[in-house]
Amino acid sequence: MTDSNISFINAAEKTNINSKKNTGDVYVLAVESSCDETSAAVVRNGRDVLSNIIASQIDIHKIYGGVVPEIASRKHIECINPVIEEALRKAAVTLSDIDAICVTYGPGLVGSLLVGVSAAKAIAFAEDKPLIGVHHIGGHISANYICHKELEPPFMCLVVSGGHTNIVEVENYGKYKVIGRTRDDAAGEAFDKVARTIGLGYPGGAKIDALSKEGDEEKIAFPRGHIEGFPYDFSFSGIKSSVLNYVNGCNMKGEEYNRADIAASFQKAVVDVLVEHTISAAKEYGYTKIAMAGGVACNTSLRKEMQEACGEAGFKLYYPEAVLCTDNAAMIGAAGYYEYINGVRHGYDLNAVANLKFE
Ligand code: KG4
Ligand code: ZN
Repeated sequence: MTDSNISFINAAEKTNINSKKNTGDVYVLAVESSCDETSAAVVRNGRDVLSNIIASQIDIHKIYGGVVPEIASRKHIECINPVIEEALRKAAVTLSDIDAICVTYGPGLVGSLLVGVSAAKAIAFAEDKPLIGVHHIGGHISANYICHKELEPPFMCLVVSGGHTNIVEVENYGKYKVIGRTRDDAAGEAFDKVARTIGLGYPGGAKIDALSKEGDEEKIAFPRGHIEGFPYDFSFSGIKSSVLNYVNGCNMKGEEYNRADIAASFQKAVVDVLVEHTISAAKEYGYTKIAMAGGVACNTSLRKEMQEACGEAGFKLYYPEAVLCTDNAAMIGAAGYYEYINGVRHGYDLNAVANLKFE
């Protein structure tokens, strides 16, 4: 990359998969640019990642304490072509080997989404290949298909990212039913806001995760959000305010507060609710396979508590490796492959939809 502020990784470096195309293989080129990662990947048959290039803008946005949409779109424009070229090069394929172009068209930042959608449309048009718009949440869920070759629907999935918190019935490939959702902040958003409150910087999820290991998770009783009559919905705005009040209270009294205790107690409260709701939803709806997806699915405490709860209930738990939990194009290629197989095709009028619904 020409811009030294942008780190550029191939998240499929370890896979070492032979890219030779056999008869019947379906190769998709996938593009993801919904927030602050520009990513392109080549995925075979929805499961094998031949390349997964991610240009992260985190170093730029952390100066501002969060993603600045206008800067994000401009950086996507700079990165999109080199990232796509690198994805093809690392996969050792050319566009003529590609069967379909898949792209995230929502939800996300509209200016960011538009860059990926425009690039994908241009390639699909120029190469006369099918174009497939992919829902970002379906992408997160499908990251599990890459990491767990044996995983097939139906299963229940907890989607926890910076923008979403949903409990989803995955009835079939590309067929979803949301049975629980956040009423306010997403879980990742709460992590990021609390991290900012205690001075950890952006993005805060991984920092809270690390600092929590030094803290006492029983020290502060932060509230667990429940919505009367909606046992699978979430609310994280109360706990966020509660952390803020705690910190302000200490400051006003001139008392020192322990950031590690705050991080650990906050994390425990969020994880408890995520685990409790997911397990009871799986029991109620009769699922024995549970998956997790999205950036917060990297959280070590969530993984541990969910694993324990699944063990007790006799459920099998799946989650993607960390680099496939956060935004990346390989997950869009996995979801897009199944859309392709199901006959989904989009026209050149495909548009970016910032608040694309997920039902
Ligand atoms: O899935 P993702 O990359 O983007 C969205 O689609 O939103 O998720 C990013 C979110 C951020 O809020 C980040 O703080 C959170 O995932 N995150 C974590 C951890 N790693 C990333 N939250 C808790 N613990 C982590 N280890
Ligand atoms: Zn995401």
